[in-house]
Amino acid sequence: MRISEQIFPRMVGLIVTLSKEGKANVMTASFLMPVSFEPKYIAFSVSPKRYTFKNLKERKELTLNLLGKEMKEEAIICGTYSGRELDKFKKANLITEKSKLVSPPVIKCPISFECKIAEIKEYGDHFLIVGKVLKEWIREEKFTPLLHLNGSVFMEPIKLGNKV
Ligand SMILES: Cc1cc2nc3c(=O)[nH]c(=O)nc-3n(C[C@H](O)[C@H](O)[C@H](O)COP(=O)(O)O)c2cc1C
Repeated sequence: MRISEQIFPRMVGLIVTLSKEGKANVMTASFLMPVSFEPKYIAFSVSPKRYTFKNLKERKELTLNLLGKEMKEEAIICGTYSGRELDKFKKANLITEKSKLVSPPVIKCPISFECKIAEIKEYGDHFLIVGKVLKEWIREEKFTPLLHLNGSVFMEPIKLGNKV
């Protein structure tokens, strides 16, 4: 059994990076977690096979964009194709905005974080990336998150307010 079927559901984010030459790329990630309240830190893990990994190592900055349930198609597109092959921003019709403190743009979605990389460390077949949040964009405070199980299988949305 894969670990992704054992630890779930997980929120889904789009990680935006820039290449050395300044070309932006976007990748879906659900191996994702909060790390610290104040200052805010986030972490996710990325396979070294991803084009995104090269950009992360070269530029040490990223934006993390958290998706609502209505952005499932965008998550599948950005999690299926590689930025080596095509422009996923166009393919997924993503709307970007210029970041204030980092060079990769943010994506129009409920919440975006502009991050500087604090740590890149290898664990097994992935690398853990820890990012310090320099700026946050809150476009929707209350949103229904897109939740991932495995592959292209997602979970029933959890409605905010249904606390147990
Ligand atoms: C819902 C979903 C979640 C994913 N989560 C991750 C992840 O956390 N880490 C990772 O390395 N790849 C993850 N992937 C796979 C990458 O998004 C995928 O390989 C992508 O094509 C890499 O793009 P790039 O080569 O442009 O960086 C996920 C894919 C999907 C569909």
